[in-house]
Amino acid sequence: MVKIPKVTRRKAIYLGGTTLATTLLTGWLRHPKSLKAYAARKGLLYGSAAAYSKLSENQEFARRFIEECAILTPENDLKWHKIHPKPNDYDFSRGDWLAEFAKRHKLKMRGHTLVWHQSIPKWLKETANPQNAESILKEHIMTVAGHYQGLIHSWDVVNEAIEVRDGHPLGLRKSPWFQWLGKDYIDIAFRVAAEADPHALLFYNDYDLDYDIPHQNAKREAVLNLLRSLKEQGTPIHGLGIQAHLSGPETRFNAEKLKQFLADVASLDLKIMVTEMDVYDRGLPYDYEKRDRRIAEVYEMYLNTVLEEPNVIGVLTWGLSDRYTWLSKHRPRNDKAPVRPLPLDREFKPKLAWESIANSFASST
Ligand code: G3I
Repeated sequence: MVKIPKVTRRKAIYLGGTTLATTLLTGWLRHPKSLKAYAARKGLLYGSAAAYSKLSENQEFARRFIEECAILTPENDLKWHKIHPKPNDYDFSRGDWLAEFAKRHKLKMRGHTLVWHQSIPKWLKETANPQNAESILKEHIMTVAGHYQGLIHSWDVVNEAIEVRDGHPLGLRKSPWFQWLGKDYIDIAFRVAAEADPHALLFYNDYDLDYDIPHQNAKREAVLNLLRSLKEQGTPIHGLGIQAHLSGPETRFNAEKLKQFLADVASLDLKIMVTEMDVYDRGLPYDYEKRDRRIAEVYEMYLNTVLEEPNVIGVLTWGLSDRYTWLSKHRPRNDKAPVRPLPLDREFKPKLAWESIANSFASST
């Protein structure tokens, strides 16, 4: 039997779309102007997380977002504490604004997230117990995923359920959901999400899957085992989100190990998305040129590796511009200089990281 290389699938989409190309169009295709265009040439999606507060208050940012992105993840606006602030009270206002923004500008939208150990509202902490947690979880997922039914490309149904350092034999995080419901909460969440929105792709999403260090090697193994067991029990799961919060100074990157992990995930018939990529610059030189060069190098090295896997369908960064990034607050530099982890600078101009992401898309097969 002739073995057709898997990579031809993406190429076919591209070639199929360019049969009517004029000379001008050909020029544009060689040097597209946006990351979404570079990605689209290879049948991939590029996008970013963004907050309602930033997209709605800064028109220049919104304009650049639409230019660069084909897909949007609400950074915090769909999390439990924001969308379900009281037991019988849902607040869809910010999510609805983002869904409308996405629709108006022809962006796809991701859902983030239905089950997480963080962002648990105070009322839930105070009232949930092993007897009522399952019905609270089901009601939340039916209501939220049901509200956005048909509008979501992919949901991060369960986020960050693995923490090997918690000592559970399967590497499961001892999160509130685990304490209330045991390991079944994961399967339950996917089944209810599938019922609430049969059109959305349903993802498991996690971080620290990137480097060749003992904790991350163990975490990749635990995630793979979790995905295997979910598939074996018929859980409706369609993909793995690898967050890819990378570190500028970290050098323990092993492309072969990462590729093998992605191939193992793909062999379970799961799609893969890079869901939250950024490169933090604590520990890198202050000098912008040196710093940006290293950050760009990390983007390119990582994406060149990941994009070799044909089941990868898209890449999102966790923010588009250095002006708006969680890292300013959560991982500031020791010298207090503004952080530079994203493709655009604080004035929304492309940096070397932008070039690297574009190059990785351009050279992927
Ligand atoms: O909205 C309040 C604001 O009113 C207040 O003035 C300000 C004071 O510091 O805090 C603001 O809330 C913060 C919010 O981000 C918006 O900036 C919260 O304190 C802060 O905890 C929250 O952090 C978010 C974090 O998740 C926790 O939910 C980050 O923005 C968000 O980028 C981060 O995203 C996570 C993904 O969901 C999952 N993967 C990891 C990723 C990074 O941690």
